Amino acid sequence: MSSLEIRAATAGDLPSVTEIYHHAVRYGTATFELIPPDLAEMTRRFGVLMDGGFPYLVAVLEGRVVGYAYAGAYRPRPAYRFTVENSVYLEPAIHRRGIGLQLLQRLITESEARGYRQMIAVIGDSANAGSIGVHARCGFEMIGTHPDVGFKFGRWLDTVMMQRALGEGGETLPAIS
Ligand SMILES: CC(C)(COP(=O)(O)OP(=O)(O)OC[C@H]1O[C@@H](n2cnc3c(N)ncnc32)[C@H](O)[C@@H]1OP(=O)(O)O)[C@@H](O)C(=O)NCCC(=O)NCCS
Repeated sequence: MSSLEIRAATAGDLPSVTEIYHHAVRYGTATFELIPPDLAEMTRRFGVLMDGGFPYLVAVLEGRVVGYAYAGAYRPRPAYRFTVENSVYLEPAIHRRGIGLQLLQRLITESEARGYRQMIAVIGDSANAGSIGVHARCGFEMIGTHPDVGFKFGRWLDTVMMQRALGEGGETLPAIS
């Protein structure tokens, strides 16, 4: 795994990111989107995150983008401004080689550096052992399950909520309010 690089995403990475996400939308239950967003829509979403100053990372293996992770606003109302929701997706062929863990660890570090205090994972499908496992490895605690809130591929799906404090979490007040 010596050629693995985790770095900030650029607009040039978005075709690969779009392709990775397409697979997750078409075949997976981690995301509740049903129609894969095209490159223009993924570019728009990237722009929103960049404008907000959020971290957006890619994992590059042997010169190829094989995964990505970003943090964005958890909810739009302003009192939530120190809380982010995270996303992490990899190409299926490279699951369980430690890359998701490295992406998520770096995303946590980048989010802490920006002053965020809580990170929330809304995990699609309580059967998503990979996502639950990697979040647990990164120190996320189980908050609970919303049963049967999604419907995809002809069946009901749960969401699993996990949460991790960033930096000093709720122990101290933020330096800027
Ligand atoms: C979830 C995902 C990002 C995990 O990335 P990954 O590179 O496959 O996971 P890692 O190899 O870094 O695993 C790190 C740890 O997480 C846990 N883990 C990972 N996959 C697991 C699985 N299938 N079952 C149980 N635990 C698992 C393990 O503790 C693992 O450490 P170990 O291999 O030393 O036991 C990846 O599987 C993925 O892209 N899945 C599809 C999309 C998705 O579910 N994204 C999350 C949206 S919330």
